[in-house]
Amino acid sequence: MDYNKLYAQEAQLLDRFFVNKKPKSLPYSVERFGATRLVRVNPKYVCYPIDVPLGVSLADLKRIQADIERIIFNNRSKHGITDEVKVLIQEQPSQIVVARVDPLTLTYASRPRDGKPRFVLLGKSFVGGKSQPEVINLNHPDTCHVLVGGKTGCGKSRMLYQMILSACEHSEPTDLQIALVDIGGKALSAFSKLPHCAAYVTELAETKALLAHFEKQLVGAQDTYTTRTMIVIDEAPALTSTGDKETDTEFARLLKVLAERGRAYGISLVLGAQNPTDSSVPVEVRRNLGVRVAGMCSESAMSEIILDKGNREAADLTLQGTFIVRHSGQSRLTFSYYLTDDEMINEIARLKSEYDPCTQIDLLVGDGDVMLPQVAINAAVDVLKQYTNDDGTLETGYVMPTKRAIADALGRKSITGNAADKFDRFLDFVVSIYKSGNLVL
Ligand SMILES: Nc1ncnc2c1ncn2[C@@H]1O[C@H](COP(=O)(O)OP(=O)(O)OP(=O)(O)O)[C@@H](O)[C@H]1O
Ligand SMILES: [Mg+2]
Repeated sequence: MDYNKLYAQEAQLLDRFFVNKKPKSLPYSVERFGATRLVRVNPKYVCYPIDVPLGVSLADLKRIQADIERIIFNNRSKHGITDEVKVLIQEQPSQIVVARVDPLTLTYASRPRDGKPRFVLLGKSFVGGKSQPEVINLNHPDTCHVLVGGKTGCGKSRMLYQMILSACEHSEPTDLQIALVDIGGKALSAFSKLPHCAAYVTELAETKALLAHFEKQLVGAQDTYTTRTMIVIDEAPALTSTGDKETDTEFARLLKVLAERGRAYGISLVLGAQNPTDSSVPVEVRRNLGVRVAGMCSESAMSEIILDKGNREAADLTLQGTFIVRHSGQSRLTFSYYLTDDEMINEIARLKSEYDPCTQIDLLVGDGDVMLPQVAINAAVDVLKQYTNDDGTLETGYVMPTKRAIADALGRKSITGNAADKFDRFLDFVVSIYKSGNLVL
């Protein structure tokens, strides 16, 4: 099937539709480019620019949205394409946006040689009727931290995927490392294989240890860092609405400290949150997130929370993967790129083959002076399970093998001599949390 022909047909049908409307009530037309109609190309959408005479309200146009959807649906279904059609009528610049039926694959811009500005691609924007990549530089104070919001299914996680990949594509692991927080482990696991990935955490305790690790970096001379870290948190409210007040407060504090002071030490926060209200993303955190990205919002209040007061336009979005991106005082309509799972896996494998992995952050989970990485705790618990009787008591003989498992996980040889004391405390600690059944601290 010749898709270009299909899109040209759609443009013609839209044109005819407008011509047949009474000129006074709807004096619109689909923009022409020379003799042919211009269909602007985007990886995921077809955009039909429309001519709107000055002084005409777009509210009129939005009232006939359903008619336009029907026109396109009827035409596509004649060609056997019966997917639901949703159009987005966009005011600035004026255009009708409709999903392509032949999605093009995404290719990233090539990596800059010096690797210095840390670029992240958010998608494609339309400015003055022309499309351009929407790129932010994490090293710029105004665009260092990002908030991505919008209702469920609007494409937030996909937006994060594309941001992570493009950031890694543009920088080497020695220049940019990423730390991924994915509570529940559903959204970001594929990216843990990236050579840039310094930490991938799925539990609250590990996340606390990770953010505390970064808090400790906020000392010494500012702006002297060599590696930038992008901390990506999908569903940030999972940290601040846990149901446990103390945990919520601690995460709110850590996020606030990183948002306020991270920039000068090379730390960027990228937070995903459906509806980042004051209770889920505290005001002190939000006001430091200079780049606001809002997908479809169920109401204008939600759009204003994400983009800031007076910015209600995200409530008009009707398509997945369309966003209003606002930073440095400007808002733009942006289309995020959509990668299929295969494309994503291939891209990750390619980056993996190209670079040496960055150093992993050793997360210490525990309390007081007994700090153990989660891997050591897990290894010890596996041994303890083998020594547990049916009634839940521990059989004798578990001491040495458990200490050995901890030593192996830590890469230590000796558990006796100078180390004996330490390993006694490790063992007590692991046994106590094992018995309490509270393995996730
Ligand atoms: N750029 C895009 N182009 C087309 N479709 C997209 C795009 N981005 C996302 N989608 C569609 O939207 C679906 C939901 O996307 P995604 O999982 O990123 O949403 P989400 O906002 O993270 O949802 P949730 O809040 O439930 O986690 C995707 O599975 C995909 O089908
Ligand atoms: Mg999601």
